[in-house]
Amino acid sequence: MLQLIKRCHEYSSGYKEYCQELYDNNVIYFRPANPNHMDENWFSRTKGWYDKKEKGLVEGQPISFHYWAVDDGKFIGEFQLRTEFSEKVMLDIGSIGYAVRVSEWGKGYGTEILRQGLEIAKEHGMEKVLLTINEKNAASIRVCEKHGGKLEDTIEAHNEAEGHYLLRRYWITL
Ligand SMILES: CC(C)(COP(=O)(O)OP(=O)(O)OC[C@H]1O[C@@H](n2cnc3c(N)ncnc32)[C@H](O)[C@@H]1OP(=O)(O)O)[C@@H](O)C(=O)NCCC(=O)NCCS
Repeated sequence: MLQLIKRCHEYSSGYKEYCQELYDNNVIYFRPANPNHMDENWFSRTKGWYDKKEKGLVEGQPISFHYWAVDDGKFIGEFQLRTEFSEKVMLDIGSIGYAVRVSEWGKGYGTEILRQGLEIAKEHGMEKVLLTINEKNAASIRVCEKHGGKLEDTIEAHNEAEGHYLLRRYWITL
């Protein structure tokens, strides 16, 4: 059964494998940390930064909570929740980031991660979340619409991995 758990040392090698699969397949959406920079001390070295993010203490970053998705001991994907509607959230990264390792695509995991993630957002007291999705990202658009996402508009956006692109902004009411 898929579960969303807080980041933890036990699954850090699974996280690295997940990042490697996304890199090897040149996935440009929701690009994770570079697996080449993850040595054996990577988890403990970066833990403080993620803890600070949860408290809103990282400059330029909205308050963010990071979860890992595991199923029967296997690392499947991740889920990130940003609880503030800052400019960066509204025009770029949205309230939610999520991804599934490439070898597990098409098995319903993305849908389940978002379902459980929306419950977590409710527990954080959120009444709605914004998903920002590249208009070419058909799988994520499908998953979002399955969860009741309502298209607000489409805006121009830019980042290193995706270049200049059109970004769909969807609201999901919780
Ligand atoms: C988006 C993502 C999380 C989906 O994960 P997943 O485990 O494959 O999702 P699911 O199996 O639950 O569902 C995928 C849905 O998209 C549909 N789909 C997949 N590719 C599609 C395509 N090219 N066109 C239309 N629909 C597509 C599937 O048919 C399925 O819909 P269905 O349940 O009605 O059949 C995964 O593709 C991923 O990690 N992508 C890279 C990161 C990313 O894009 N994150 C989101 C950023 S906004």
